Amino acid sequence: MLLIEETFKVPFIDLKPQYQALAADINRAMAEVIENSAFILGSEVALFEQEFAAYCEAAYAVGVDSGTSALELALRAYGIGQGDEVITAANTFIATALAISYTGARPVPVDIDPQTYNIDVNLMAGAITDRTRAIIPVHLYGQPADMDPILEIAHQENLVVIEDACQAHGARYKGRRTGSMGDAAAFSFYPAKNLGAFGDAGMVVTQDEEIAEKIRILRHVGQRHKYHHEIKGYNHRLDTLQAAILRVKLRHLDEWNAARRHHASRYNQLFTGSLVLTPFEANYGEHVYHLYVVRVEDRDGLQEHLAERKIYTGIHYPIPIHLQRAYQELGYQRGDFPITEQYADQILSLPMFAELTPVQTEFTAEKVTNFTHGYDKWK
Ligand SMILES: Cc1ncc(COP(=O)(O)O)c(C=O)c1O
Repeated sequence: MLLIEETFKVPFIDLKPQYQALAADINRAMAEVIENSAFILGSEVALFEQEFAAYCEAAYAVGVDSGTSALELALRAYGIGQGDEVITAANTFIATALAISYTGARPVPVDIDPQTYNIDVNLMAGAITDRTRAIIPVHLYGQPADMDPILEIAHQENLVVIEDACQAHGARYKGRRTGSMGDAAAFSFYPAKNLGAFGDAGMVVTQDEEIAEKIRILRHVGQRHKYHHEIKGYNHRLDTLQAAILRVKLRHLDEWNAARRHHASRYNQLFTGSLVLTPFEANYGEHVYHLYVVRVEDRDGLQEHLAERKIYTGIHYPIPIHLQRAYQELGYQRGDFPITEQYADQILSLPMFAELTPVQTEFTAEKVTNFTHGYDKWK
C-alpha cells in the first residue's frame, strides 16, 4: 500500500478517459464537420439544439458560445437592462452576476438555504423591489433549486425566471428536468461540466418560440436574414465543431450522471459517522453532482493535507460575489449574507467525475476522515 500511495494520484477532474472511450465517434464527427467545412451554424448546431431541447423536455434550444452568453442573451430577450434588478443566489459562480451586469441591470444577491446551498426562497420575497424584473435561481453543484415557490412568487410579482442550469444538465425537480421550468434556462458546456465541449459552448433552452427566435437573432449579429440587421446583436454563436462533439456526448449523459450519483452515495457511505458534513440531497429532486461539496471545520488544513497526498480538490466558491472587488459598487459588506460567507470558509469540493474509480473514492475518503478524526466537536 505504501508503494501504491507514493505514486497514486486523485485528480479533481480528469477529462481524458471520457475522450478515450468515445474517441472513434468523436473523431468521426469532427472529421465530418471539417470535410463539410460548414463551420458557422452548420447543420450539427440545429441538430444538437433539437436533441438537447428534447433531452431537457423543452420546446426550443438555441446554441451559443458559453453559459455566460446564454444567461445574458436570455435576459436581453426579455428586455431586461439598465435600471432593472435581477435576484440571484449569493453563492454562485461570478458569471451569473456578470451576465446580469452586462445587460446594465443590477444583480441582487439573496443568501442561501443552509441545507441545499441554493437560493433561500424564504428570503427571496424580501429582496423584491419595484425595480425587480427577474429571478435567476442557480441549480448549484447539480442540485435543483426549490422551483415551485420560486415560480409562484415570480407569477405573483410578474417576474421572469431564468434558470441557471450551467451545473445541472439532466437534474430533475419533482420529475421535471432542469431547464424546462423557468421562462428560459442557461446551460454551459465548459469542458469540466457534466456535458462538456472541447472549449467554450452554451445553450439557452425555453418553451417560448418568440424568445427562442429573439435569441437566435441576438446571437447572430442581429440578423434573421443575411446582412439584414434588425437589432445590434452579438457574435455569440455555438461553434459547429462543438455541436458535433456535444451530440456524441449527449447520448452518454444519463449514464455519466448515474455514475456521479453512485460516487456521491459511496462517499456519503464512507463518511458516515465522521465529522464531514456531506451534501444534503433534497427529496424533491435528483442531484447530478456536478460537484461533491463537503463542509469541514478546518477546510484549508484539509485541502493542504489532501494535496500533500496528491488528492486534488476545489473551492466553489472561496469569495462570495458581494465581497469581490469587481462588485464593490453594489455596496455590500461582510455580514450581509451570513450563510454564504460562513460556508465559503468551510466548503471543499472533492474529486468528482464519472470515471472516478472505487479505489480513488475510497483513498480520498480515507485521507479526509484521517484528517478530520481528532476534532471532537463541530461548530
Ligand atoms: C453556475 C454557473 N453559471 C454560469 C456559468 C458560466 O458558464 P461559462 O463558463 O460557459 O460561460 C457557469 C460555468 O462556468 C456556472 O457554473
